[in-house]
Formats: sequence, C-alpha cells, structure tokens
Amino acid sequence: MAEDSKVVVITVDGPSGAGKGTISRIVAKKLGFHYLDSGALYRLLGLSSVRHHVSIDSEKGLMALAEHLDIRFQTEKEGDFKVYLEGEDVSRELRTEETGLLASKLAQYPGVRSALLKRQRMFARTPGLVADGRDMGSVIFPAAELKIYLTASVEERAARRYKELLEKGEDVSLPALVEQVRSRDERDMSRDASPLRAAEGAIELDSSAMSIQEVTDTVLNILSVKGIKKQ
Ligand code: DC
Repeated sequence: MAEDSKVVVITVDGPSGAGKGTISRIVAKKLGFHYLDSGALYRLLGLSSVRHHVSIDSEKGLMALAEHLDIRFQTEKEGDFKVYLEGEDVSRELRTEETGLLASKLAQYPGVRSALLKRQRMFARTPGLVADGRDMGSVIFPAAELKIYLTASVEERAARRYKELLEKGEDVSLPALVEQVRSRDERDMSRDASPLRAAEGAIELDSSAMSIQEVTDTVLNILSVKGIKKQ
C-alpha cells in the first residue's frame, strides 16, 4: 500500500531508551491517532525465529518468516498495550534485553527490512499515526507531517533501563547496561541498511535532562504550532 497522503503521520525516531515509546503513546492518545511500535515488529521476528528454529544468520529464512508473521497488537481498557505472536501474549518476553539484541541483529538485513516495510506502512490509517522506531521519518514515512528525533545520553538511557529492571525485581548491573546500550547504538547506527539517524527536517530533542512530562509538553507545543490536532 502506498503511503496515504490524507493520513497525518508523526514519526519519532531515536536510539533505544530515549523515551520514544512512552512519548509516542501519550501523543497518539491525545490526538486519537493509531500507534506503531516498529521495534516490536523486529522483536517479534526475533522471538519467532527462536520458536521456528530459523538461524539469525539466515537472511532468506528470516525474510520468509517476516512475510508470514502472525501478530496482533491490542490496546487494553487501562491503556495497557498487549502484543500477540501466533495467538500467544508475548508482551513481557518482547521487552527483554535478549529479544532487543536479537532484533537489533536481524534488523541489519536489507531483505528483512523490506519484508517488514509494507506491514509498517499499513498502520497509516485515518485519522493519523504516531510511528516510533529508527527509520520512520527517513525510510518508512518520508512524507510525514512532523518528524522528531528523540535522543538522550548513553548514561541516562542505561540509568533509566536500570531503574525499570530493578523495579521488576531483576538482578542487573549498571556498567553492563551502559555497555549494552553503547553496543546496540553502535550496531543500529553503523549498519548499511537504514541506519539510525535523524531524518531530514526532523526536530531533534535531547531528553537527558527532561522529564516525560516536559518532553510531552514540548512535542504537544510543536504540534499546536504546526496545527496538528485531535481529529
Ligand atoms: O525500539 P526497540 O528497542 O524495540 O528496537 C529493537 C531493535 O530493532 C533496535 O535495536 C533496532 C531494530 N529496529 C530497527 O532497526 N528499525 C526500527 N524502525 C525499529 C527497531
């Protein structure tokens, strides 16, 4: 499907842990727009490859899997966001560091990226879409009305993840997380296929010293200046 010009699209790209998901969900809710968590697609493909014993080294195998991914996203009543793979709720498994690492590895293959392209564009439905990822503004929705590049320092992103994992009762080390964040950035930014970078015309926001509320308010201000409002 071609990108629908009547649909208002807002893209939020940036490295992992910058707060893209949280901000995108809040903004989508405020505007009454759909939401695309594109990282979840790569993560789901990672989970699916483990389940179906497709090697991370097989671009062709992963492409075939990507074409037939049986997935469903569902927003629950309380605003909770659930993700299903082949009918099974995998929301928790999806967010682990292992799944993120797997996603980052298979996302390097151009064939995998193009196999997931159409699926991502299909999320652009009326009245609008907030899409978060790495290449939303540069590749998937180049004609988006508003492009945001949300970043934060490696240390701050690792510290946020550390807090999140401690709250879940997981045993983690902050220096190890700093290393993980750094190496994932390195892979996402240096790959040949759609590397992470700010899209042309993107507004860059550094959330290192900002609260979620401050980032949300900044984005909402930009939307109001641009005349993008709830439909
Ligand atoms: O946003 P995330 O942490 O859920 O993404 C997991 C990995 O998937 C990320 O390290 C790189 C890859 N990814 C990508 O290459 N392109 C996207 N649009 C989204 C994610």
